[in-house]
Amino acid sequence: MSSQRIVVWNETPIQKADRRKRNGHHSFVLWLTGLSGAGKSTLANHLQAVLFEQGVQAYLLDGDNLRMGLNRDLGFSAEDRKENVRRVAEVAKLFVDAGMVVITALISPYQSDRDEARARYEEDEFVEVFVDCRLEVCQQRDPKGLYQKALRGEITNFTGVQAPYEAPAHPEIVVRTDEQSVEESVHQILSWLREKRYIG
Ligand code: PPS
Repeated sequence: MSSQRIVVWNETPIQKADRRKRNGHHSFVLWLTGLSGAGKSTLANHLQAVLFEQGVQAYLLDGDNLRMGLNRDLGFSAEDRKENVRRVAEVAKLFVDAGMVVITALISPYQSDRDEARARYEEDEFVEVFVDCRLEVCQQRDPKGLYQKALRGEITNFTGVQAPYEAPAHPEIVVRTDEQSVEESVHQILSWLREKRYIG
């Protein structure tokens, strides 16, 4: 006999709007996507620091770090990456509900997975940032030596070598980290957020 799964959503009296009001700013996710070595984590850390200094409740969810805890059971098959993105989108959504600005830094290589992530949010809660950097430049940078390992066949399924990266079809923001400095990219993102009134 199969057991029936009955789950009921519990409303809480304190709402997202109350938390936003107290924090004094909108809450949303800045979803950074791009190749390994494109500069997602560097950019995300700078953004977090600037926002934090401005009094914004900002929190970074970094793919590498999450894979040491929440996502430690996941590898790099297409199926596992999908689950990785799903979990991070769900966790980030809780942070958005908590009234915070969340910066995620994941390769998130598949358009369909990113689309599914976006679909979990209200329209003004998901800002996709394509951290665009030519593959050759990422391979030259190779900060962790992983491209070299992948090219020698010591890692399989490495994005850009044996596994695909699908560039975003309609990102809100594109930063060219192979052509502009970290400061310029941070400035570009913050200007966009101010212009669209995501932050003050
Ligand atoms: S994904 O595709 O969104 O699920 O990946 P993510 O959670 O961002 O993790 C990417 C980091 O894991 C390391 N790593 C690999 N990346 C891609 N492909 C393979 N096979 C792989 N194996 C290990 C790598 O350090 C990635 O970090 P970044 O910061 O992107 O370089």
